[in-house]
Amino acid sequence: MKHFLSALDVPDVTALADSAAAFKAAPRSAETLGRGKRIGCLFLNPSLRTRLSTQVAAQQLGMEAIVFNVGAEGWALEFAEGAVMNGTTVEHVKDAAPILGQYFDILAIRTFPGLKDRAEDYSERYISQFVKYAGVPVVSLESATLHPLQSLADLLTIRETFAGGRRPKVVLSWAPHVKPLPQCVANSFAQWMTVWGGADFVVTHPEGYTLDPQYTKGASITHNQDEAFEGADYIYVKNWSSYEQYGQILSNDTDWMLTLDKLKATNNGKVMHCLPVRRNVELSDEVLDSAHSLVTQQAGNRVWAAQAVLADILKSNA
Ligand code: CP
Repeated sequence: MKHFLSALDVPDVTALADSAAAFKAAPRSAETLGRGKRIGCLFLNPSLRTRLSTQVAAQQLGMEAIVFNVGAEGWALEFAEGAVMNGTTVEHVKDAAPILGQYFDILAIRTFPGLKDRAEDYSERYISQFVKYAGVPVVSLESATLHPLQSLADLLTIRETFAGGRRPKVVLSWAPHVKPLPQCVANSFAQWMTVWGGADFVVTHPEGYTLDPQYTKGASITHNQDEAFEGADYIYVKNWSSYEQYGQILSNDTDWMLTLDKLKATNNGKVMHCLPVRRNVELSDEVLDSAHSLVTQQAGNRVWAAQAVLADILKSNA
């Protein structure tokens, strides 16, 4: 694997999840693999789990990890080709990225979408420009449309907790939120579920929240949440703003919040969320604090997902 921006960069997602599970069982099993190598983690946006789990993973591989909150502390970057930079941007990515490529062996980047211009966000211009100009492997720490490290941790969580001896039923359920959020986590989870192919995968959301079909191809899609939950083994709760009326909040219907009562229709369903979560808006306290919730285990698995990805890139680019 040269870069890690999406499930489509991964030759075998099951093998990568197996590698993550192996690191979970033996965290220091490759502690010299990254010796003498340095990863630069650039955050144009805030983070808790992604920032810390990636640093821990890199250190467990013997790498040095340097974090730069470029969004808050760096020069304002310009990404437009041919821009006349007489406004607020100070440095073009064409100039900054090659320098970062000299400082680091791997560059990892978080860059959220603006949620104003769908074509612009879905072009993934920001992270693509780093790929184009840095000259080193690039890892997505969540881009405008996808969050692949989260999705790999999600896949690991499902695989390590399911003991049904059959295909699990996995439901991605939209939930209300107070702010317009990107589609990244939902797009990415749908992409990983469909590429993996090991689950009966259902997406449920109110009208107007259809995701980009390139990510949900092969999934069952319904506006009927109760029907979707019937017999479900996993409910992945996530808000996203509208893709169709781009970036808009079309509904804040509190009936879509997951409660224990709704879980009665499931197969003792396990509940997932990428975090951070708005308690009693997306998910009720009673669900998050119950044995149904996998959110802490899921967030813990972010370390092993990052470690598997970095190890693969280190080996592939040795
Ligand atoms: N799930 C996730 O990416 O968490 P952070 O935004 O805290 O990194």
